[in-house]
Amino acid sequence: MTSAAPLDPADIRPDFPLLDQQSGGQLLAYLDNAATSQKPLAVIEAVEGYYRHTNANVHRGIYELANRSTEAFEGARQKAAEFINASDWHSVIFTSGTTEAINLVAYAWGRQQLGSGDEIVLSVSEHHSNLVPWQLVAKATGAKLRYIPLGEHQGLDLEAAAQLINPRTKLVALGHQSNALGNVNPVAQITALAKNVGALVLLDGAQSAPHFPVDVQALGCDFYAFSGHKLLGPTGIGVLWGRREILEEMDPFLGGGEMIHTVTLEGSTWNELPWKFEAGTPKIAQAVGLGAAMDYLTALGMDRVQRTIDDLSDYAARSLGEIPGITLYGDADTRSGALSFAMKGVHPHDMAQLLDQEGIAVRAGHHCTQPLMQSLGVAATTRASFQIYNTVEEIDRLAAAIRKAAAFMLGA
Ligand SMILES: Cc1ncc(COP(=O)(O)O)c(C=O)c1O
Repeated sequence: MTSAAPLDPADIRPDFPLLDQQSGGQLLAYLDNAATSQKPLAVIEAVEGYYRHTNANVHRGIYELANRSTEAFEGARQKAAEFINASDWHSVIFTSGTTEAINLVAYAWGRQQLGSGDEIVLSVSEHHSNLVPWQLVAKATGAKLRYIPLGEHQGLDLEAAAQLINPRTKLVALGHQSNALGNVNPVAQITALAKNVGALVLLDGAQSAPHFPVDVQALGCDFYAFSGHKLLGPTGIGVLWGRREILEEMDPFLGGGEMIHTVTLEGSTWNELPWKFEAGTPKIAQAVGLGAAMDYLTALGMDRVQRTIDDLSDYAARSLGEIPGITLYGDADTRSGALSFAMKGVHPHDMAQLLDQEGIAVRAGHHCTQPLMQSLGVAATTRASFQIYNTVEEIDRLAAAIRKAAAFMLGA
């Protein structure tokens, strides 16, 4: 828990025009932020302003407009590097999101470097985006997948991790924060275990980058991936940061324009980092929007963002925890940002539909974590997830609506 002061939603909410609308006859309470976040005016205006005043293709232009577009795009890369405290912007690759970033590593590093006898360690709580690419790599290379289970209190089992990570381990790919449970995983301990055996570490930062300050140098990981749209930015943009020497060694992921140095009919040579991994016209307007989102969050202070989301999450866990018949999932010691729950006798989808009638947007389902659901012994949960614009009043409405839904479904 950070000692920074929480943000005041009265200051924040006017920045998010979408929140000012009715749903189910009430003010919309948007509690599906783990799926995607809403966008502040600063982001909306940056994207609009880019298309109104700056749009041109990047890197190739010899005219003033194209130079300004390139500056806007590459400026966003600098901001992304600073946002995660990367020492070198060459190591910051724009992708379409976390999913593409992880696939890039799986294809360009995994298929080149792994073979039978090698092992990749994941956890059972991974989002499918940090699981299926490795299953494909394992199938193609003969490498074996091993999974860190949940331990007591539904956190990752560190003792099991210590047993699983061994000299055959070549990569540990781990969610920094679980989208389904909100758990902040013990990535420092697990990274230390990986480094002891010379394995690389990839962190899936889809949920952590929007929630707390991230410092890839302090984390000691080799790859870090995140999505813009969960971080108040546009859809269609994300970041892969990687250690420069590893990225230099890797072959390209996709082939096409931008990523080449020379092309002859006989073969091609590759552009420098980061463009080697950015084939085709890049996501220019999206990157500009992401840069504006990072400016917005940085101006608020990521430590204050963290404090705000932690406070809301703790308040929600306390309020919902008092409801008879409810089960809260996740590790109460580390959980933040997302709160998964189930009400005895009420299907999670029915719960989400009844909450929708009260103007409360939450998600129900497996949250793209089917193996985690299996390991919890459930098919689905209902999940409320928080961002800086959410309020205690919205959580009070959520708790009241859950009680009402339970009374309606159970005839209590
Ligand atoms: C932990 C985690 N990893 C990966 C992803 C995939 O992100 P995207 O769909 O933006 O590529 C998500 C999205 O829900 C996520 O929460």
